[in-house]
Order: sequence, then structure tokens, then C-alpha cells
Amino acid sequence: MEQQSQLQSLFRFIEESPTAFHAVANLEKILEEAGFRKLKESKPWEIELGGKYYVNRNGSSLIAFSLPEKVPMGLRMVAAHSDSPCFKIKESPEITVDDFYVKLNTEKYGGMILSTWLDRPLSVAGRLIVKGREGMESKLVNLDKDAAMIPNVAIHMNKDMNKGVEYNPQTDMEAIIGEAKTKGCLMAALAENVGVEESDIMGADLFLYNRDKCRLIGLDDAFIAGPRLDDLECAYAGIAALVSAKPQAYADLCVIFDNEEVGSGTKQGADSTFLKDVLERICSRLGIEEEAYRCMLAESFLISADNAHAIHPNHPEKADVANRPHMNGGIVIKYHGSQRYATDAYSAAVMKDICNRAAVPYQSYANRSDIAGGSTLGNISTAQVSVNTVDIGLAQLAMHSALETAGAEDLGYLISALQTYYRD
Ligand code: CO
Repeated sequence: MEQQSQLQSLFRFIEESPTAFHAVANLEKILEEAGFRKLKESKPWEIELGGKYYVNRNGSSLIAFSLPEKVPMGLRMVAAHSDSPCFKIKESPEITVDDFYVKLNTEKYGGMILSTWLDRPLSVAGRLIVKGREGMESKLVNLDKDAAMIPNVAIHMNKDMNKGVEYNPQTDMEAIIGEAKTKGCLMAALAENVGVEESDIMGADLFLYNRDKCRLIGLDDAFIAGPRLDDLECAYAGIAALVSAKPQAYADLCVIFDNEEVGSGTKQGADSTFLKDVLERICSRLGIEEEAYRCMLAESFLISADNAHAIHPNHPEKADVANRPHMNGGIVIKYHGSQRYATDAYSAAVMKDICNRAAVPYQSYANRSDIAGGSTLGNISTAQVSVNTVDIGLAQLAMHSALETAGAEDLGYLISALQTYYRD
């Protein structure tokens, strides 16, 4: 029963979070309901031991923390990311074709599987910067209707299509949004959506997103399918665990970074000073001196949670010969010889111990030695704040597809493991 309600909450969260901006706003709602207080980077912080707080940067990254009653011995941190691969809508977005169609001028955000974005209803969401009475205001926007479609070329016009197609992001991946008479209507629709004058929109970060709902898959409902499971599943689990934590000796933090899919190198990414700045401010407000802060960091731990590759049913040979995680097999601990995953013997041992205490299964992932694989948050974040780190995730199929598949049991496993981590 609990598994069902956790999944339903995750599904709702993903469906209401078409972009990183929406994901952060929705996580903030969960934190508010749990009594966390909002801090602003631009205002002095009033914080005290025993308190619970959160702060965002750029509206797309978030750090929430819960302090113990006495000066913390160290930090228990979880990190995940708020962004997913999609199409960013360019400035001057509308193009007319053949005096009939209006298309969107887009570019890739992150490394998605292009073909999965074809022939499915898409919509437009993001944030608008509008002129308000007291200067510029940021507004979330979501058209929330089937507004766009990227059509395939018919097989009759490309008989070799099933031998593989190389998609050109500029020419093959543009979405139609209407007939020629809709030219100029996009910004008007967005302005209407947020209740402002079109002429007051001064800037926009807009994305196309997949309109699919999340759902259970399989005769036995063993799997879940949904957009943006990487990494909203881990982001949701991290915040869900944090709101139920009652810190004793350590401070508990959950850090959600934007821009993981494009290298993390922004002011709000894992390679920014966001986490370091927040930790320094917490220490400064609590009167923790530099020396004590260094000791605290040495006593700290980071679980970097980002989904992992499950063994593929049609391509089991793509998995490593011996480390072959499957969906519903529990927490995947990720290892990489060149340290693109931050896991080492110590941090793996800590993670296994957490799983054992939570009675949650765990498994291991390593790339085949002849496949490069991806990277994630752990080793990037530790460049700014160096602490013992383990890279983990939940096993899923079709990572960076518009619609991804994961295990129905694994969300509950991750929440339990993170609750145990924060508790002890
Ligand atoms: Co990811």
C-alpha cells in the first residue's frame, strides 16, 4: 500500500514538473508542508539549531537542510539533479514552411535519444522574466496542452529508414505548432497563460516536454514508465526522505542541482559554489569557526543519486560481464576505475551498511571496459566540497529516452535507504 502511494506521489510530481524550474517549485511545496522555512540568497539568514530550511538558486537548483539541536558533527548529504534532456526553444522561435506550417526553432538540451521525441504530443514550459511593478519577476509557465508534434518522414519516402536514421537536430527535429495563421501566437499564448501582457515579457527559458503520463507497466505491474525518471525519481526520493528525518548528531541536507545534462558548469550546477556557499553561511550563522568546519567536512558523507542502466532485455551483452543490475533489484552502487563515479571501497562499504540496516537490497554497476559510459554529480560536486562520496542510482532502461522505464519497487527501496541514512 505504501509503495502505491509513494509511486502515485512520484507520478504526480513528475507530471507537474515539465522543467527543472517546475521541479524545484514542486519540491519547495513539499518542504513548506513539512515546516521547512524558505531562505533567500539575497537576504541575511536567520537560522538556528533544530531548524529546517531551504534555499534555491536560479529557481532551478535547491538545497534543503535540517539541523540537529546541537552543533553538528558532520553532514549527511544526498544529491540529485532537476534537469532532463529535452529541446530548448531558441529566441525568434517561429519559422514558416511552405506558407502553411509554423514550426519551432529548437536546439538540443543534453544528450537525448532523438528518435523517441518523434510522433508524440509535446508541450511548452519554462520560465518567463516579466516587467513587474518592482522590477523583473520570474514566472513559471506551462501551456499544459498538446501543442506541438515532431513528425517522422513516412517510410515510403525513406525506404531505408529501418536500417537506422541519422537525425539532424536543426532540420529533422523541429516541431509543428500550427498553421501559418498561428505565426506570432506562441508568446501571446505564454503571456495569456501567466496573465501578463506579451510586451512585458523580457526574457524566456522555454523547453519542449513530453506530455506522456507516468504509468505502471507489465502484467504484474512490475515496472513504471514515465518521462524524466532520470533524475526526478532520485530528486523526489531525496526530499521525501529528508522531510521525515529527525537529525541527531549530524545535519541532513538534500541538494538538487540543475544542468547535470549539460556538464554542470553553470552558477546553479554541481560544479558551482552553491553548496559551498550554503555550507559557509550555515557555519557563519551558527558561529562554527573555520577549523571546526574543516573537521565537520572530514566527518561528512555524500550520496550522489542518479539513475543507473538496468540490464537490457534485447541487449544483455551491453552490460558488464559480472556487474549486471536489474530493475527492482534495489540500490545500484556505481563503480568506475577512472573515478567518473566517486565510489571507492570506503564509501561503498558505508552504502552497503546503510542498505543492510534499512533491509533494502543493493547491486553493483560498472561499465563494460570497452564502453565509455556517462558521468554524474558525485565527482563534480566533490571538486567544490570534498567529502567521502558514493555514486548510486536506481536501475532503469532507455536512459535519456523521452519515455523511460524503471522498477516499481525501487523507489520505496531508495526512500527507505535514505531515511535510514538520515536517521542514524
Ligand atoms: Co541523470
